[in-house]
Amino acid sequence: MTQPHATASIGVVGLAVMGSNLARNFARNGNTVAVYNRSPEKTRALVAEHGNEGDFVPAESIEDFVASLERPRKAIIMVQAGAATDAVIEQLCEAMDEGDIIIDGGNALYTDTIRREKEVAARGRHFVGAGISGGEEGALNGPSIMPGGPVESWETLGPILESIAAVVDGTPCVTHIGPDGAGHFVKMVHNGIEYADMQVIGEAYQLLRYGAGMEPAEIAEVFREWNSGDLDSYLIEITAEVLAQVDPATGSPLVDVIVDAAGQKGTGRWTAINGLELGVPVTGIAESVFARALSSATQQRAAAREGNLPAGTLAADIAALGIDRAVFIEDVRRALYAAKLIAYSQGFDEIKAGSEEHNWNVDPRDLATIWRGGCIIRAKFLDRIREAYDTNPELPALILDPYFKSELSQLIDPWRRVIVAATQLGLPVPVFASSLSYYDSLRAERLPAALVQGQRDFFGAHTFKRTDRPGTFHIEWSTDRSLTQTDA
Ligand code: 6PG
Repeated sequence: MTQPHATASIGVVGLAVMGSNLARNFARNGNTVAVYNRSPEKTRALVAEHGNEGDFVPAESIEDFVASLERPRKAIIMVQAGAATDAVIEQLCEAMDEGDIIIDGGNALYTDTIRREKEVAARGRHFVGAGISGGEEGALNGPSIMPGGPVESWETLGPILESIAAVVDGTPCVTHIGPDGAGHFVKMVHNGIEYADMQVIGEAYQLLRYGAGMEPAEIAEVFREWNSGDLDSYLIEITAEVLAQVDPATGSPLVDVIVDAAGQKGTGRWTAINGLELGVPVTGIAESVFARALSSATQQRAAAREGNLPAGTLAADIAALGIDRAVFIEDVRRALYAAKLIAYSQGFDEIKAGSEEHNWNVDPRDLATIWRGGCIIRAKFLDRIREAYDTNPELPALILDPYFKSELSQLIDPWRRVIVAATQLGLPVPVFASSLSYYDSLRAERLPAALVQGQRDFFGAHTFKRTDRPGTFHIEWSTDRSLTQTDA
């Protein structure tokens, strides 16, 4: 059998929607793209339907696919995370040569990426775990791409990825994030922030709907307006679309006929777990994951409703609380903005901690730059984050940047008011409220951690530090309660 010419500058394995859209994006941007799918029908369909968009080199075996790639060969895997990805990596490793580059474009767990990078490197090939954000539409028209892996791979791969990434102010939304798992780690935290961003929008909706008694179509208008200010973002924009949508089957607002149980594929959960492991309080992200889990606990929720759990004394709506509707809407906008700011601040803290833990040297400015376009959390706000890290790359927390601090001075009172109102109305605001507690904890002069240390020392002789002198101390709780210095 004749071997195909090696003409393709990039290849895509796995031609479900994300993979085929990515392949089309490569082809549309002047790259000759090799395409391969385990069942050849998908490959044939892609070429039949979109072959006129650019140069595709279809292959029906992995060997032909690899043979059609220019050296160093570059192949992006767009198959299911987990075992399917491992199987394709194995096939590619077999068929490829020294110096060739295997890219995993799925939402892989970064620890898997670290393992795979080691295994593939041991066989003389390069492995790049690349986070790709923007969903199906982004894959086709310009995603935000977060590649990790060896810097040599980036030198070869960079221009090709730049050719398909979203562009903001002339800058492509892609850059080398750091070695081995850095790209997938950062994509994981991106998704965690995405969860929090979606949840705070949900909490704002809930307050306007059931606190201010507004209809979805009215709330859609409010979100449209918010989208022209500080909150200008893809997620606010699509929220207005979803709220304005009428159910084609019944004519009711679509949001009213969707079951209120949020799904998840795991990236937000990974972010929360990793935050716990690193000791970084990503409370906004974790509460968002829990909020999805609680929403999906349908049986328990039904039992709780039927069990008539006492609600205490509640106000029926904001009018009963004497709150003006226009004032409330603006307060909710500010509370949303504040809670969102906290979620980003915490997400960047986690990235910093992860980067330090793994020696990745991730630059937060890069992230704020490449998240401005293409990805799900793209927002005007990211320009401000970029400026914050430009001014001070060592910012101890995003919220300590002078711009965000001055924003917070405008947000803090409305934020507190909204949480008080939500409590009086009996409406759940897990991220609005926990973010405020986080904020108040961060600025507190004294935390009850002193008492916790005392308790730990009481029952377990776990010792404590003192505010007035160095050393480690213990009280002889069960005898004369004298003070001993345990490190003396
Ligand atoms: C993106 C999205 C994408 C996907 C996630 C979240 O950046 O394009 O984050 O990766 O939507 O998997 O999905 P879940 O909400 O199902 O976890």
